[in-house]
Amino acid sequence: MAIVLRSHHFLILLYVSYILLALAQDEKGFIYNGFHDQANLGLDGIAEIHPNGLLQLTNLSQEQVGRAFYQFPIKFNTTNSSSLSFSTNFVFAMVPNLPNLGGHGIAFTITPSTNFTHALENGYLGLFNDSNNGLLTNHILAIELDTVRDSEFRDLAMNHVGIDVNGMKPVASAPAMYSSNKGGENISLDLMSGNPMHLWIDYDDAEMLLNVTLAPTTIPKPDRPLLSTPIDLSEILLESIYVGFSSATGTVTSYQYILGWSFNKSGPAQSLDVSSLPPLPGRKGNEKPGLVIISSLIAVPLVLITFVIGAAAYIWRRTKYEEVPEDYWEEEYGPHRFSYNNLHKATKGFKDTEVIGKGGFGKVYMGILPSSNLQIAVKRVSHDSRQGMKEFVAEIVSMGRLRHRNLVQLLGYCRRRGELLLVYDYMPNGSLDKFLYSNEKPNLNWVQRFRIIRGVASDLLYLHEEWEQVVLHRDVKASNVLLDSELNGRLGDFGLARLHDHGSNSQTTRVVGTVGYLAPELYKTGRATTCTDVFAFGAFMLEVACGRRPIEDLGLPERVILIDWVAECWRKGDILDASDPRLEGNYVVEEMELVLRLGLFCSHSIPAARPSMKQVMQFLDGDADMGELLHDSASFRSFKSNESSDFTSFLFSQGFAPSMSTTYLISRGGSL
Ligand SMILES: *[C@@H]1O[C@H](CO)[C@@H](O)[C@H](O)[C@H]1NC(C)=O
Ligand SMILES: *[C@@H]1O[C@H](CO)[C@@H](O)[C@H](O)[C@H]1NC(C)=O
Ligand SMILES: *[C@@H]1O[C@H](CO)[C@@H](O)[C@H](O)[C@H]1NC(C)=O
Ligand SMILES: *[C@@H]1O[C@H](CO)[C@@H](O)[C@H](O)[C@H]1NC(C)=O
Ligand SMILES: *[C@@H]1O[C@H](CO)[C@@H](O)[C@H](O)[C@H]1NC(C)=O
Ligand SMILES: *[C@@H]1O[C@H](CO)[C@@H](O)[C@H](O)[C@H]1NC(C)=O
Ligand SMILES: *[C@@H]1O[C@H](CO)[C@@H](O)[C@H](O)[C@H]1NC(C)=O
Ligand SMILES: *[C@@H]1O[C@H](CO)[C@@H](O)[C@H](O)[C@H]1NC(C)=O
Repeated sequence: MAIVLRSHHFLILLYVSYILLALAQDEKGFIYNGFHDQANLGLDGIAEIHPNGLLQLTNLSQEQVGRAFYQFPIKFNTTNSSSLSFSTNFVFAMVPNLPNLGGHGIAFTITPSTNFTHALENGYLGLFNDSNNGLLTNHILAIELDTVRDSEFRDLAMNHVGIDVNGMKPVASAPAMYSSNKGGENISLDLMSGNPMHLWIDYDDAEMLLNVTLAPTTIPKPDRPLLSTPIDLSEILLESIYVGFSSATGTVTSYQYILGWSFNKSGPAQSLDVSSLPPLPGRKGNEKPGLVIISSLIAVPLVLITFVIGAAAYIWRRTKYEEVPEDYWEEEYGPHRFSYNNLHKATKGFKDTEVIGKGGFGKVYMGILPSSNLQIAVKRVSHDSRQGMKEFVAEIVSMGRLRHRNLVQLLGYCRRRGELLLVYDYMPNGSLDKFLYSNEKPNLNWVQRFRIIRGVASDLLYLHEEWEQVVLHRDVKASNVLLDSELNGRLGDFGLARLHDHGSNSQTTRVVGTVGYLAPELYKTGRATTCTDVFAFGAFMLEVACGRRPIEDLGLPERVILIDWVAECWRKGDILDASDPRLEGNYVVEEMELVLRLGLFCSHSIPAARPSMKQVMQFLDGDADMGELLHDSASFRSFKSNESSDFTSFLFSQGFAPSMSTTYLISRGGSL
């Protein structure tokens, strides 16, 4: 009894001292060079503090959030707009699991509440959900360090710093870099490099300017901020706010750390003492087998026997796991190379039970990487020509740098006798065509279908116009769109078509793609362009809206070619007749009509008359009106004009089958 009473008293005492502490604590500022026991942080999700004072927000667990907020509220007098200045700086590090691939970044956050029960981890940095994203009632300001390009939220580019107000659509954003005080030139930084970096955030209420400055920890604060954005915080902040960090991982992950943090409400925050920050855990390097030096020859027979056994084992292992020896040009791609041994283990020796797909380029296996437990998909592509391999690998590696929410991420590759293994992010829901055409998967509703169409469009826009070079997909179709765990559409297999260019000699131009999605001019010129991708995307849109393949023998000759049939319905004034009957009329009429009309527009027989992906995106978002763009119905009769004879003869030369889902290689001057 006495003990109970005592612990009771103790609790009261603790509570009282807590309140006193809270009152005594002048919540004007704090500085942590490492977060040792006295750090007043409230942790949430998978965040934890290492014994050495390192704050780890996320580890390699997928789709998780980690948050850490200073546990006492900070008071601002929002009716006095000249008392809202604050200043903070912190040192962070993002150490990716695989080189250059990481989670969703870190957001420094100012929020009225630290209860994020309703937030989604994926894509919203653990701060928002689909329904509250962007609402003025959130009262949240976040400075995001983002490494995933997320077109849904219209970020500028991956590897950027952005200012978010109440939602994930940045009001200002810039690629990660700093301006050198000496030469004034801009120096890029890779947020995912794994190195610690310093970020300063300063708000001045007189100027109403929010400055964000980034730099490596090796130099002092640069004079010129990365972002200097006019913002009136009195419209955003509430009187009592919390400050801290939120971080999230996706299917690819990284360790995300905060090493030190300083905050001040009444003047410039003290700069951190970089030398006294906790060290990051030793990073995994490429372990190289150490040299074995035999110093004595006493045990010669033993050594001999060991040698013979060792050599036999070595030869056996070599033949089993042999990769193509590294060429000199491959050295720079080291981080993107997977060892055959690991891929062999991951896929249980490329067992048939692990096959999750077969495509025009080879079988796809599911696997789990032994070191990180990361789920992967491994595509085995056969190649016989060494010629062109260098260019192809260069291209593959450069595509590994593509980062987009609606892209199946390429993680790396491995070359082995006569085959190339490409390693991708694993997509648990398989390909879209299974949902559209086979009854084993549930029917997709219109909201899901429209989101998939929009996602694939934003990805194509990225490939065509927003990356450093134009990337053509060349094989857009439902079976190349994979669905992630949330049924978001992700485009896969991009660029693979190029393999055939590199493998072939220049005398024959080969058309790569899938019948039904091939623009008419391809049969003539054989040259893929952004316009031919747009054509294929048009066929894809119709496919998703109508729930049928672009070419399918349904017994009625006039319905074989989907585009023709949709154009026919449209001409008759009832385009909705073409919509997928399995939707049973449950769709947003305006959206369905938009998709069907846009599908036709993209299928225009004159390449220049098709919209660009940028326009497609604007139409889908309702930011532009298609209006009277469609007036010449004849132009959608894609295969009926001069091209049609080419096309028909091609179909018959291939023995036209009702299901034309395989990839065709057509040699120009061959059957066409
Ligand atoms: C990440 O941290 C959480 C919480 O500490 C733990 O449950 C989980 O096992 C960790 N995951 C990995 C991959 O280390
Ligand atoms: C906030 O500022 C207003 C005017 O600027 C002042 O009247 C009010 O007393 C202040 N409130 C607090 C809690 O200091
Ligand atoms: C507003 O806040 C500033 C800074 O805290 C203070 O100097 C000023 O007197 C305040 N103004 C009013 C009207 O209270
Ligand atoms: C967070 O908010 C939800 C409801 O909005 C509530 O059920 C939950 O108890 C809250 N959690 C904490 C820790 O306050
Ligand atoms: C989103 O979060 C808000 C609270 O911030 C909550 O009221 C709402 O129910 C959440 N919506 C979803 C779909 O989770
Ligand atoms: C650095 O980038 C900024 C834009 O962020 C630009 O205004 C400035 O001209 C650039 N400076 C140099 C030297 O390129
Ligand atoms: C923000 O940056 C601008 C431009 O460099 C500078 O004039 C201003 O003083 C800075 N404000 C703060 C609070 O650092
Ligand atoms: C906050 O700023 C004031 C005024 O410049 C300074 O005296 C104080 O030391 C600073 N506190 C911290 C924790 O940076």
